[in-house]
Formats: sequence, structure tokens, C-alpha cells
Amino acid sequence: MKPRRSILSVPGHIEKMHHKAAVSSADVLMLDLEDSVPVDVKETARSQVIDSLQSMDWQGKTITFRMNALDTPFGYRDLLEVVETAGHLVDSVVVPKINDPGDVHFVSRMLDGIEMGRTTTRPLSIEASIETAAGMERVADIAKSSDRVCALVFGIADYQASIGARLVSISGHGEHEEDIYPGHRWNFAMSRMVMAAKASGLLAIDAPYGNFRDPDGLRRATAMSCALGFDGKWAIHPAQIDTINDMFSPSEEDIERAGRILEAAQEAEKKGQGAIAVDGRMVDQATVRLARQVWEQAVHLKLREP
Ligand code: COA
Ligand code: MG
Repeated sequence: MKPRRSILSVPGHIEKMHHKAAVSSADVLMLDLEDSVPVDVKETARSQVIDSLQSMDWQGKTITFRMNALDTPFGYRDLLEVVETAGHLVDSVVVPKINDPGDVHFVSRMLDGIEMGRTTTRPLSIEASIETAAGMERVADIAKSSDRVCALVFGIADYQASIGARLVSISGHGEHEEDIYPGHRWNFAMSRMVMAAKASGLLAIDAPYGNFRDPDGLRRATAMSCALGFDGKWAIHPAQIDTINDMFSPSEEDIERAGRILEAAQEAEKKGQGAIAVDGRMVDQATVRLARQVWEQAVHLKLREP
């Protein structure tokens, strides 16, 4: 799978932004038909997304689209029309407000049918957006519900509304949270979702940071996502992409250290040694696994030769 550090959400009805997104540095572009699109232009947005998918050069980027939720009159039509006409041009569909495995089964069955009419396309993946109390309660079952699911996405704003938690900012986690709660109040929900994702071999993707003119806040919030095990984060503005890419990439220092650990571990193995010291710190098999993960990520991002 190609890197999915930054996912730029692009309103489906604004063609100008599609062009801007195509030349951006985002790993993934998500053409949005849901919450950035006003109700009275849902159909226009759907047609625009199909048109852009078919006519634009996306520069080899990973392309997804976000359909409307299944409890709206738009959701099933988004799936049907976009996938039927342009499904071969997208990598995955983001399904908002997944409440239980049945929601995934429904989408997956529809995709089965649409794809049966074709012979050449690879199966579309599903990104399940976890943004309700019901969805969070069933998150492990949702993660395991279909081979099509490739990622879980944390939809913080809707989740917050769903549980009735007090609003301190519209920026997702990281802005003024400590004013009303000591520590990080989304830790449980975020970690719960990451655990479910990783137990099923899926990516965990974090919600966007809404204050797009606050780079320090974005950096702080992204550091938290990285610390909790997320693989990527949504962006809502092109100005956020480079920070997110940077924070989800291993630093030169991390890669160098991982290289030293792997080399030392190889030497130790030859000599039949177990735990050893590198840079004055203990290195055992668990540390070697962590170092290998950093190295593989660096190779994946083409920061090192395999
Ligand atoms: N994708 C692509 N291009 C974008 C963009 C996005 N998400 N957000 C802004 N741009 C473009 C603007 O069109 C503008 O282009 P221009 O220089 O050619 O005119 C440029 O980036 C600078 O934008 P700016 O003027 O700073 O912001 P804005 O006031 O036009 O838009 C938002 C601010 C928040 C309305 C806009 O960023 C947006 O709609 N973001 C996406 C929201 C969304 O998808 N929400 C749902 C997911 S949570
Ligand atoms: Mg939402």
C-alpha cells in the first residue's frame, strides 16, 4: 500500500479545489460528498466528482471519495453512481458513521454487485469512519467485518456530538482541551480505535485539525496522533499537508538510530549474544522489532534503500 500520511479532504462540488488538490503534496485525496457539501448541491457534487475523476490527471495519488451516510437519501446513490461510472479510478470509499458490521456488509455487498459487471478492476477498499458511540462500541467487530476494510477513521466532531461531550473548540483534539480536562480527554476513544485497527491489520487515520491557520496547534495535535499509533491524519486545507507528512515520517535521527540498532543486533546474533547496549541504552528483541519498523517505514517512504 502507498503511504497514507496525509489525507486532504476536498469538497466535491468545488472543481477549482480539485485542481489545487491534484498538484498538492497530499498522499491521499478524498473527494467529499458528505459534510463539506450543502444538501441542495448533493447531486451536483456527485456529478462533479465523477467528472473530475474521469477527466483530471491525479498525478498518481491515492484517490478516495466520501459518500453520504447510509441513513440519508444520498448515500446509496453516491455509491452506485460513483462506483459504477468511475470506480476503476478510485482506491477506496470512505463510509461515514459506521455503526455496526451490518453497515459494512451492506456497502460491501453493493460493491460486489457493481464490480461483478466488470472484469478488470481491483476490488474497492472501505474506510470505516467511526464517529458515533454505537460505532465505537462495536469498533472491533467493524474492523473484522470484511476483507474490504483497509482503515478505520476517527471522526471526532460527530463522535463528540454523539456522546454529548462539551465543545471547547471546533478543531478536533489538541486545541484548548486542557482548559476543561486534565490530560487528553480523547485518549480512550482514539486508543480504542487504534487497537481495533491494528488487531485487524488496518490503518488508523485521525480526524483533521480545524484551525488551519494554527500550525503549532496542528503540530501538537499530530504529535498526539503519532504517539497513539495512528498512521495518518486528515487535512482540510493544503497548508496542513507538509506538517502532517513530516510528522508521520521517521526523522533522520530516528532512521540513523534504527540503522545502528539493526547493525549492532546483527553482530550480536553472530556472536550468540542476547540483549546488548547501543548508545548507552539496552537493546533486546523488542527494540530490534521497533527499529525494524522504523527502517521499513523509511524504505517505504523512499528515505532509504531497501
Ligand atoms: N482542497 C483543495 N484546495 C483547497 C482546500 C481543500 N480542502 N482548502 C482550500 N483550498 C484552496 C482554496 O481554494 C484557495 O485556492 P486559490 O489560492 O487558488 O484561491 C487556497 O487553497 C487557499 O485557501 P484559503 O483562502 O486559505 O481558504 P478558504 O477560505 O478558501 O477555505 C475552507 C477554507 C475551510 C472553507 C476550505 O479549506 C475547505 O473547504 N476545506 C475542506 C473542508 C472539508 O472538506 N470538510 C469536510 C471534512 S472534515
Ligand atoms: Mg463526520
